[in-house]
Amino acid sequence: MKRVAVLISGRGTNLSALIAAQDASYRITLVVSNVEGAEGLERAAEAGIPTLVIPHKGKSREAFDAEIDDALRAANAQIVVLAGFMRILSDGFVRGWEGRLVNIHPSLLPAYKGTRVHERVIAAGEALSGASVHFVVPELDAGPVIAQASVPVRPSDTPEALAARVLDVEHRLYPEAVKLLATGGVRLEKGLAVFNP
Ligand code: GRF
Repeated sequence: MKRVAVLISGRGTNLSALIAAQDASYRITLVVSNVEGAEGLERAAEAGIPTLVIPHKGKSREAFDAEIDDALRAANAQIVVLAGFMRILSDGFVRGWEGRLVNIHPSLLPAYKGTRVHERVIAAGEALSGASVHFVVPELDAGPVIAQASVPVRPSDTPEALAARVLDVEHRLYPEAVKLLATGGVRLEKGLAVFNP
């Protein structure tokens, strides 16, 4: 059973999905938020999971990342899951957790990296969007994809409506991908996601 730490900044619905889906392959043993009062912290506390707030304000990126890193290592985390964590992590941090650090992004990567995804997808007239779980590498949203799920984009969609449809599949996709990683079904090798047959 792998010890998983989840980093959040806000709402935490993916965190809730990951908590609900825990099985023999992984246990969430720590939730860290850079934002005090984040809704996700309550979700963790309700599930009896230890939480930690590490504010980023007034610190250099390296100092902030070092604090997070210390907390993760003190908790013996084996996998680090970003779930709505709104800070860019330094190259040093990312390299230190290479192959054990994953993120979920609300688009079909490599399309629509970055922010305001749903707005841009609708403006471009796309027929399909979705969610991607990927290994984190230093370049933003550019890591090898572990799992993806698609949803239709409807002509009447607002960014909010599309976000809700994508979020729904995120909640199924993320636990599946974390289980795959926790059981050795996928690994990062020479910059590629390698799957076991
Ligand atoms: C999700 O849409 C995720 O794809 C993105 O941030 C959002 C987090 O939502 N990275 P929540 O905090 O899990 O509810």
